[in-house]
Amino acid sequence: MNKGTKMPSIVVIFGGTGDLTHRKLMPSLYNLFHQRQLPDSFAIVSVGRKDFSDEEYREQVRISIEKFTRFKLTEDVWSIMRERIYYVRFNFSDDGGYVKLKNILEEMDDKYNTNGNRTYYLAVSPEYFAVIVDKLKHHDMALSEKSIRRLVIEKPFGKDLSSAEELNDKITRVFTEDNVYRIDHYLGKEMIQNIMVLRFSNPIFGHLWNNNYIDNVQITSSETVGVENRGGYYENAGALKDMIQNHLFQLLTLIAMEAPVNLDTKSIRDEKIKILKAIKHVDEDFVRHNMVRGQYGPGEIGINKVNGYRQEEKVAPDSDVETFVAMKVFVDNFRWAGVPFYLRTGKRMKNKTTEIVIQFKELPKILYARENNLVPNLLIIKVQPMEGVIFQFNAKKPGTGNEIVPVKMDFCQNCQMENNSPEAYERLISDVLKGDSTLFTRWDEVEYSWRFVDKIISIWKNSKEQFPNYVSGTWGPEASQELLSRDNRQWWEI
Ligand code: BG6
Repeated sequence: MNKGTKMPSIVVIFGGTGDLTHRKLMPSLYNLFHQRQLPDSFAIVSVGRKDFSDEEYREQVRISIEKFTRFKLTEDVWSIMRERIYYVRFNFSDDGGYVKLKNILEEMDDKYNTNGNRTYYLAVSPEYFAVIVDKLKHHDMALSEKSIRRLVIEKPFGKDLSSAEELNDKITRVFTEDNVYRIDHYLGKEMIQNIMVLRFSNPIFGHLWNNNYIDNVQITSSETVGVENRGGYYENAGALKDMIQNHLFQLLTLIAMEAPVNLDTKSIRDEKIKILKAIKHVDEDFVRHNMVRGQYGPGEIGINKVNGYRQEEKVAPDSDVETFVAMKVFVDNFRWAGVPFYLRTGKRMKNKTTEIVIQFKELPKILYARENNLVPNLLIIKVQPMEGVIFQFNAKKPGTGNEIVPVKMDFCQNCQMENNSPEAYERLISDVLKGDSTLFTRWDEVEYSWRFVDKIISIWKNSKEQFPNYVSGTWGPEASQELLSRDNRQWWEI
């Protein structure tokens, strides 16, 4: 099958009653149905451990779609989708369940002309990843010569390098690498897909995108929410593993990569991995000087009082887990030598925003720059909740003498889409069906980012921070501001 054609398939969702399925997967599938972007030969089978009939399950899915979808549910679209949704109940380690599932899928192949093609989507907690893959192999449901079988796997992919290697070994013994789709939902976000387009289709950016013209790069992904009901997971993760190892590193690679020789998946991924390999060596000294960790204490988000991390459900009252990380890294190659990349992420921060700020170098301190404190030129890529690009530059304030003020050119993407941009998961599901894995992480990307993160964690273990060290509803610990002010820089909030 050509890349680009959506294959007839049954999507089998393991974890069919979970949060991800209800909030993201089903609403995204509905949006795809709505836009007629799914093949006619298509059906969905959800597997879960709770006891529901098909009808009961469909009703629950309908409620979730009504709540979370970007297109209002209409009866004509829903009636097409609902009759293609099935529910099968079993425990993921129960052999009998797989026998039952296999029979159902084979019957459905006849009904929906799905040719034995399967997209197995693992929306389950990570301890089941290997179990399910093993069972699929054991019951001869994995790779097949006659049909296309793909595996989509949610994060976290391991909890460190060695567990990720072990998991990868197990998976790739059953599914070949080109049939494994490791999800990083950030890659499905519209503006993140736009980064390569901005860089490689605009001479003004393309020519200036290097250490001759760029002073520093800032990548921020902040949230106002706390850990919500995920304390159990988060206690074994923390912000470094939860956000930096995957999402922020992916943003870093897209900003820093060289132009690929073409737009093929392999060419793009080959360039991204070079950036992860080029990140400067990390040692104790590096961590002490270039990394800040934080944990939120009680505070206010808007008008609401909120608890500190240590008071959250399933969190130890003396927990040392970080909910905030800021760091400075260098990409040690010809393009970027000497340019700091500042990364920060945190929960319970002042605003929810994901954005990338490119700060350009200043002009010589003559003419206007001699007397005025000029604000640097900034290119800001807004990923969410606003989507767009802002360019900030200097201009004369009208009607005054020679006063110079920063002004903005503002491209608001989601204004044009009437705030109805496609959901990340729509694009990702659609790409799996097309066999396009460009927006998924290849094993070596996972491997290199874990190498980096493991090193930091082993160094952090030797020292403790005084947690909590930031108030909920702020931009994190003071030390995060100091990380930049030491370099005579600041985090830009535009
Ligand atoms: C997930 C993390 O990968 O990303 C969560 O596990 C985090 O802790 C979420 O809240 C953020 O995603 P988004 O799309 O809201 O920025």
